[in-house]
Amino acid sequence: MKVLNFGSLNLDYTYKVSHIVREGETILANDVSMNLGGKGFNQSVALARAGISCYHAGLVGEEGLEFYDACETFGIKTDYIKTVTGRCGHTVIQVDDNGQNSIVLFGGANLKNSKEYVDEVLKNFDTGDIILLQNEINELPYIIDQAFAKGMTIVFNPSPYDDRLEECDLGKVSVFVLNETEGQQMTGMTTPATIVAALDAFFSNARIMLTLGEGGCIYHHGDEELYQPAFSVKAVDTTAAGDTFTGYFVAGLCRKQPMREILLTASKAAALTVTKPGAAQSIPFMSEVELFNND
Ligand code: RIB
Repeated sequence: MKVLNFGSLNLDYTYKVSHIVREGETILANDVSMNLGGKGFNQSVALARAGISCYHAGLVGEEGLEFYDACETFGIKTDYIKTVTGRCGHTVIQVDDNGQNSIVLFGGANLKNSKEYVDEVLKNFDTGDIILLQNEINELPYIIDQAFAKGMTIVFNPSPYDDRLEECDLGKVSVFVLNETEGQQMTGMTTPATIVAALDAFFSNARIMLTLGEGGCIYHHGDEELYQPAFSVKAVDTTAAGDTFTGYFVAGLCRKQPMREILLTASKAAALTVTKPGAAQSIPFMSEVELFNND
């Protein structure tokens, strides 16, 4: 079984600020850094650090060539990453004194996928392989349709949620990994229990993994429902915590681990990510996750 992550690659410009800038306000940043990120890239890093080396597919602009070396270093296969003309995807991220963030995303190269490129990548995958997707690239409806036609298992993290998702046939998704806000946006429901119930009603065959930040997470599939509390840590930067959870969760699925164990490991990994600044570089190795014990 192969794992393909078809996802974004962003240059993250992170500004450390006392508070997230308000409308009409100008504030001084205390620090700035540029790191490699993107929900797609971060989730590939999390998979790799959890011990699963995936293939990453996605597009970088001319100033994003360092992604190739970084992927090699992290243990991510670069065979299907391509460079296109124009700007790389990038973000402007503010991180406040409480470690909370706000992100402006410029899609750039991530929005230049073509059906031909999707076909070129997917021809290397088959029934039973896993494809992981997020919502930071274009051609998602086509990717979902083609992956489903091939019999691939589709794991979808509908993040960030926007109207473009209405064009996707989400009935073809096998596993949803989403946070409470995305759950609310998808279903119109407001509590974790009603969000899960609505998702289950819409997508009765899919597994649902709802993350609730400090509130823990809920896994639901058929008659099985599990709750895992979150680990309490001092937040330095919450960026990529969700991506870490997703990568570790998918790694657990690949290993066919018991769901209880997967939730525990993914929750510990996400908590550790929050204790460090940045996106991909804050994602812990499995060895660190195994040592983490604050319960
Ligand atoms: O989930 C965190 C990621 O979201 C950042 O790395 C940034 O690139 C945005 O896409």
